[in-house]
Amino acid sequence: MLKAKLVLDRDFAVGRVDPRIYGSFAEHLGRCIYGGVYEPGHPTADEQGFRRDVLELVRGLDVPVVRYPGGNFVSGFNWEDSVGPAELRPRRLDLAWKVTEPNAVGMHEFYDWCKKAGSEMMYSINLGTRGAEAARDVVEYANHKGGSKFSDMRIANGKKEPMGIRLWCLGNEMDGRWQMESKTAYEYGRRANEAAKMMKWVDPSIELVTCGSSAFDMPTFGDWELQMLDECYENVDYVSLHRYYGNPDGDTASFLGSTADLDAFIRTVASICDAVKGKKHSRKRLHLSFDEWNVSYHSDHSGRNRELREKYRWGEELPILEDVYTFEDALLDGCILNTFLRNADRVRIACLAQLVNAIAPILTRKNGGAWAQTIYWPISYTSRYGRGVSLKPVLTSPEYECKRFGSVSMVDASAVLRDDGTVALFVVNRSLEEDIDLELDLRAFGDLSVREHVMLRNDDLKAVNTEEEPDNVKPVKGPGAVPEDGVLHAKLPRTTWNMYLLG
Ligand code: AHR
Repeated sequence: MLKAKLVLDRDFAVGRVDPRIYGSFAEHLGRCIYGGVYEPGHPTADEQGFRRDVLELVRGLDVPVVRYPGGNFVSGFNWEDSVGPAELRPRRLDLAWKVTEPNAVGMHEFYDWCKKAGSEMMYSINLGTRGAEAARDVVEYANHKGGSKFSDMRIANGKKEPMGIRLWCLGNEMDGRWQMESKTAYEYGRRANEAAKMMKWVDPSIELVTCGSSAFDMPTFGDWELQMLDECYENVDYVSLHRYYGNPDGDTASFLGSTADLDAFIRTVASICDAVKGKKHSRKRLHLSFDEWNVSYHSDHSGRNRELREKYRWGEELPILEDVYTFEDALLDGCILNTFLRNADRVRIACLAQLVNAIAPILTRKNGGAWAQTIYWPISYTSRYGRGVSLKPVLTSPEYECKRFGSVSMVDASAVLRDDGTVALFVVNRSLEEDIDLELDLRAFGDLSVREHVMLRNDDLKAVNTEEEPDNVKPVKGPGAVPEDGVLHAKLPRTTWNMYLLG
């Protein structure tokens, strides 16, 4: 059997894990909100029309922040349409997804939903069709205590206490041609800077995420970050990164190696931030908000999204972007979270795109059930166990060759020293053929043994969960690890995701 070695030491600390890296994203898109989190009349709906079965599954992910309401949707959104008596709210054409937005769920309702889910709302503002004035107004509406036009409007709409929204996104993917009123880096940077300044004048305690380029492979990437940050560096706190992966050509070896691309992306954006810092002689260090990430290609690749959008233009609750995730997608999502943990010093926020139905770990059927997709499991375990201090895993692993990324390490790992002194270790064996004997050298921790080992395993890389078979891909109890000569030996079967709790 092939061998790998992992050394952990409490002094090899990357940094404290910001729990917000386990954030998520809920856009007014497809059936994420309508027919997903909100379905009045559903047997499990609460008094506000929120599905309790969905809330239960969301709680199982322990999501600290939820980015809302978009996404592409936000670039044409008027926040004022989403507050006040629901029956008076306008119906609008949403040009992002070519559907009709009823505004039945708005800022107050989603704020309440977040409280029920145990999350904070991360609110995106429209910097496509709108600008600094609307940005200033919505901060006043949400966060000012009262005695001004917009804060009094909030109070009249039923929320006496300020919402205290801490995290705000300055628009979405503003270099994308698909965006309403997309911009050049200079145009966006200026607009973001003025909006940021005024928003912080209203509430200096807020934190702001500026839009990085829409993707690592956009022609605008790099220069966009440089020029945009040149305009707004001092008034923002985070730069956004978005990345989706897919396996349309069936090259699973490359697909599972995608974290090489992810890691390079993170390092490049961090370097650009630091270059601008240097140029500006600034004392401020920007951090990264990876506020859209996931596997996303199934529904696009099949042509279903296009078909639905053409057929039901200006409809409502269109089941678009409903990717059904496979077992191999769950392995990659596990590796992506490992990458965030290994970069915990720089990545402070990350939002899985998205939360329900649209490219999501949770699927629902109208009037029917709600179930966890394959990807739900590594996300849930990493979120619930991976909090504390991220430790640098010193790893020696056999490698495999793949078309897209050359040599890729078979073992992918991250480790977290938790506040109770236990260590959570997340390990993926992404080899398609080889089982691996992993030697765990936990030299500075004394005698640690495995308290818990859960393994996600399936012989079929394309296995999925369905409403009828929701537990087809679900973690099982693993065999743990065997102590020998002061080290632990863990057997990692090929293509498995594993979590060890050591204590
Ligand atoms: O998550 C789906 C879409 O992908 C988002 O609306 C957009 O920001 C990205 O392009």
